[in-house]
Amino acid sequence: MSTVVVVGTQWGDEAKAKVVDLLSEESDVVVRSQGGNNAGHTVVVGREKFILHLVPCGVLRPGVVSVIGNGVVVDPKYLLEEMADLRARGVHVTPERLILSERAHLILPYHRLLDTLSEERKADGKIGTTGRGIGPCYADKMARTGIRVVDLLDERTFRSRLTAALPEKNVLLEKLYGHEPLTVDAIVTEYRGYAELIAPLVADTQVYLSRARDEGKRILFEAAQGTLLDIDHGTYPYVTSSNAAVFGACSGSAMSPKSIDKVIGVLKAYTTRVGSGPFPTELTGGLGERLRENGQEFGATTGRPRRCGWLDAVAGRYVARLNGIDALAVTKLDVLSGLEKLQVCTAYRTDDGKTVNTFPSSTRVLETVQGVYEEHPGWEEDLSGARSLSELPDAARSYLRLIEDVMSAPVEIVSVGPERDQTIRVGREKR
Ligand code: IMP
Repeated sequence: MSTVVVVGTQWGDEAKAKVVDLLSEESDVVVRSQGGNNAGHTVVVGREKFILHLVPCGVLRPGVVSVIGNGVVVDPKYLLEEMADLRARGVHVTPERLILSERAHLILPYHRLLDTLSEERKADGKIGTTGRGIGPCYADKMARTGIRVVDLLDERTFRSRLTAALPEKNVLLEKLYGHEPLTVDAIVTEYRGYAELIAPLVADTQVYLSRARDEGKRILFEAAQGTLLDIDHGTYPYVTSSNAAVFGACSGSAMSPKSIDKVIGVLKAYTTRVGSGPFPTELTGGLGERLRENGQEFGATTGRPRRCGWLDAVAGRYVARLNGIDALAVTKLDVLSGLEKLQVCTAYRTDDGKTVNTFPSSTRVLETVQGVYEEHPGWEEDLSGARSLSELPDAARSYLRLIEDVMSAPVEIVSVGPERDQTIRVGREKR
């Protein structure tokens, strides 16, 4: 398989990074194509834990080239800090190993400010954003007032685009939010400093990727967030501002959909969500707490506790069809050990008494539905040492079969702990 896309099938935090890290061993190029430093990708390598936000996980594998595609929104300050942290920990981050698209949009200081100020001002309907400026940056991209990496490299263009964009932002900052205005000069001075440092990484990644594909290189796409946070197909408006579903891989990297050979969906064995928005299978009591503690469900970017709940087959079917998922990686199966019974939501009951099997578009409906559950036996055994399906208890194997039925795709990877080797590669199991 030469081009593989890894997508999150829930609301993000499915432990995609561990899966991408495993698959990157068999890849030549790893690409991020959407989102920004709102993502938090945790990879455990031996005793070391890396949390990557903007740099693709491929950087942790010598010999792999990492690409930040045109669909990513890049905060250069943050990118440079992340690169410096990685270097300090012995990871080689060089222009040969990390390439940044000249078409990627830049996160500017006013994006960060407007993100947090606008959230603070909302009485109801707070999205619970990460405050990294993601939404305002994508909004400017769509409004055609954004500034791209290629613009930053040319001081005259950067200054002129900023001079055009800033007055409107300052009206918002001053008049709506009572914040002091920003100045073109201060931003130019700050960002020109970044420009010098990122310039060696910048390239036309479309050209690079199409050549890589022609040369038969194995390309792996690392989606950020999850399908239910996708701007078009997620639980709008409680979503992120990019296409987190498979489609983002193409538009965000300039690869044709025809070049995708395989889509791997990453599904956590239960469901979590961080931030606001509907969550039909949410567990608000002690069981939710228990999942949060057992699964260490705290945001990798913001540290916020994640909301936890049961597996949702209604959402799962929707996401599987939407992405055309070919195979599954099921993560954190070990976290369910010790629960006597598991519940799986197979349908929703609406407040007017109807039973629905398809995923509703209406956020209001999603907020008010009750899950219809089927019970599944749990298991007591600790799964963290299992390295083959045959080492799993019957109930865990049957839970995996249920997931395969829901998602209409075979499970190829099962993760039973954060370490690289705490993994079952179905069909290639170590005995
Ligand atoms: P934003 O992407 O910062 O605008 O936040 C929008 C919504 O997406 C919020 O509910 C965030 O908590 C959520 N979100 C953004 N990035 C991630 C992620 O990487 N994992 C999980 N949730 C995320």
